Amino acid sequence: MTLEQKLAQMSQYGTSYLMATAKDDVTGPARALGLNGEQVAAVGSTLGSAQAADVIAMQQNHLANDPNKIPLLFMRDVIHGYRTIYPIPLGMGATWDEGLVYDCCRMAAKEAAVSGIQVNFSPMVDLVRDCRWGRNMESTGEDPWYNSRMAAAMVKGYQGDDDLQGKYDIAACVKHFAAYGAAESGRDYNTTDMSEHTLREYYLPAYRAAVDAGVEMVMTSFNALNGIPCAGNSRLAADILRNEWGFDGVVISDWNSFHEMVNHGYAANDRDAAEKAIQAVTDIEMMSTCYLRYMRALIEEGKVSEEQIDQAVLRILRLKEKLGMFENPLRATSVEEEAKYCLCEEHRALARRAAEQAAVLLKNDGVLPLSENIGSIAVIGPFAACGMNGWWSCQGKTDESVSVAAGLRAALPQATITVAAGCTDGLHDPLDPAMLEAALDMARASESVVLCLGEQEGWSGEGNSRADVGLPAAQKELLRRVAAVNPRTVVLLFNGRPLALGDVIDAAPAFFTMWQPGTEGGSAAANLLLGRVNFSGHLTMSFPYHVGQAPIYYNSMRTGRPKPGDDSTMGYVSRYVDCPNAPLFPFGYGLSYTDFTYGRPTLSATQIKRGESLTLSLTVKNTGKMAGSTVVQLYIHDPVASLVRPVREMRDYARVTLGAGEEKEVQFKIDEAMLAFYTAEGRYEAEPGCFRVWAAPDAASGEALSFTLL
Ligand code: BGC
Repeated sequence: MTLEQKLAQMSQYGTSYLMATAKDDVTGPARALGLNGEQVAAVGSTLGSAQAADVIAMQQNHLANDPNKIPLLFMRDVIHGYRTIYPIPLGMGATWDEGLVYDCCRMAAKEAAVSGIQVNFSPMVDLVRDCRWGRNMESTGEDPWYNSRMAAAMVKGYQGDDDLQGKYDIAACVKHFAAYGAAESGRDYNTTDMSEHTLREYYLPAYRAAVDAGVEMVMTSFNALNGIPCAGNSRLAADILRNEWGFDGVVISDWNSFHEMVNHGYAANDRDAAEKAIQAVTDIEMMSTCYLRYMRALIEEGKVSEEQIDQAVLRILRLKEKLGMFENPLRATSVEEEAKYCLCEEHRALARRAAEQAAVLLKNDGVLPLSENIGSIAVIGPFAACGMNGWWSCQGKTDESVSVAAGLRAALPQATITVAAGCTDGLHDPLDPAMLEAALDMARASESVVLCLGEQEGWSGEGNSRADVGLPAAQKELLRRVAAVNPRTVVLLFNGRPLALGDVIDAAPAFFTMWQPGTEGGSAAANLLLGRVNFSGHLTMSFPYHVGQAPIYYNSMRTGRPKPGDDSTMGYVSRYVDCPNAPLFPFGYGLSYTDFTYGRPTLSATQIKRGESLTLSLTVKNTGKMAGSTVVQLYIHDPVASLVRPVREMRDYARVTLGAGEEKEVQFKIDEAMLAFYTAEGRYEAEPGCFRVWAAPDAASGEALSFTLL
């Protein structure tokens, strides 16, 4: 391969940039980027293709033009389903079901593979603590331990159990390395700044878990971390990822982020950016042309060796080889199988189950479930009659998704289901009196109201941060007015982040969130509303009272002046004078249609030596009248340590399903590894002394037991 051909392997452009282009006739966007025919012919990968037929045509065209006949790799963001859409990752986190997450990723991989995708830019495992950030919807939440489990489940789901050898396996790409979720002020792309301790203890573990699970690719992030943009951060990508963790797969930049090092003020120009990126051992440049334009000069000047380029190209070719692309450049791509599997009944059923399990019941003063014999329901709100797939819904189409109104109509053919918007989404508009009156008339005339409020799909996701994470004023007013005329009003929320509900939670007797539930959202909503399926979701991000509490997360550090209980008005402690410290709904929280009693836990020992373990046991009983699932959560705390430790940290959980009246003993093994942290010495180890431990239904409850590590 010539140097130019190698550099083209190390470059990635959007499908639309390459599609209209023939070898001798570079047109449209590719020409605008300054690419020439040789470069286009030898380019290594593309992102964003949609249909099997296009991929087949493009690959054939590519192989006809590329002098080395190296197949093109097709990559895409398949974040929560390809055509059949399941809930956003924040909702999948709320399922507390790694098996279900794995199954959904297998489904997404199959639809993507037959449609021509071989690499998926997922999972996003960025730790999220700030409800304002739009990309919370792509994360599984605020806990590093839990995110690590989810990361591994997703990687295995996409890549399969046989090292990418399954027909429908696709390579996963974990992102965004690193600490992208810590954007200051919750504003996307903003800078991040944190200690080495915080980085290692909280932000890095989930990426590491993906690497340990065998992820094939890593994407660097847009943000600067401690002053250095991650697109050219050798400390992160070369030292930690490659050398410390031994990652030998492909590293790709995020969109145009080589060039953005110039905007950051870290690179003088694109040539400098290319040098910084290759020194950070980044193999593929996404959507800019720094490598193509400047690498030859950098090599000639002796700043970069051709060996560095060869190593990067080898990693890319090795991935293509592992995917079997040289034998079969189309891999699983098939127009027939695309038609057969995308949106098939089996996939819809799985998406429905996921939407049901992701939903979290926040409040229920007895109005739910609705009776199967109900005669009339008014479905009101700006989101009453539309499908809600969510940001990053790939090939999902809103009109293929079930709305709440459609779901209820299908579930209750004998009932009268009326629909009114009541208001627009309200982000910029005031309440319209005529829309309101029509909705109120409907609410008065119906036995119950299902009020569909929350966020548009585009209020979260990339670039979509919010300074106020409450409901917009018009929606709040609609909620108060509707609930006042019909006390059997249930609020169904669609949201891509935690919402601050402090000022509305008392206005209606029941609230639940479905996040952005995907293709089968409306059918799942009907099953939940009618109690045909029980709620079992639990939050993985704290829901604040007020946006001013952000960032708010359960595993916060102890302080020297803690507030003694949340009702206290005592001054000179760490508090707000106008808001509780605690969130409205804590991490781990979620109600059910049945009741669970957690018995008093016991420990098998009060002391352990290094290398030993002990067992915490408790009995969990379903004391209600319906079968259901609860999530028993194990938390630990190290009360005296060489560094201040969080008030609690999750170390295990058990999702327990019990019939009415049934009980079960739940056991957790606690070993030394669960007590370890990056100490003041910078070593990852457990320090001897007392530990506290809880087994609880959320991060704010339970009774602590103690034991000692000798
Ligand atoms: C996003 C990435 C995504 C990439 C390719 C970027 O803007 O930050 O998460 O994978 O685009 O679509």
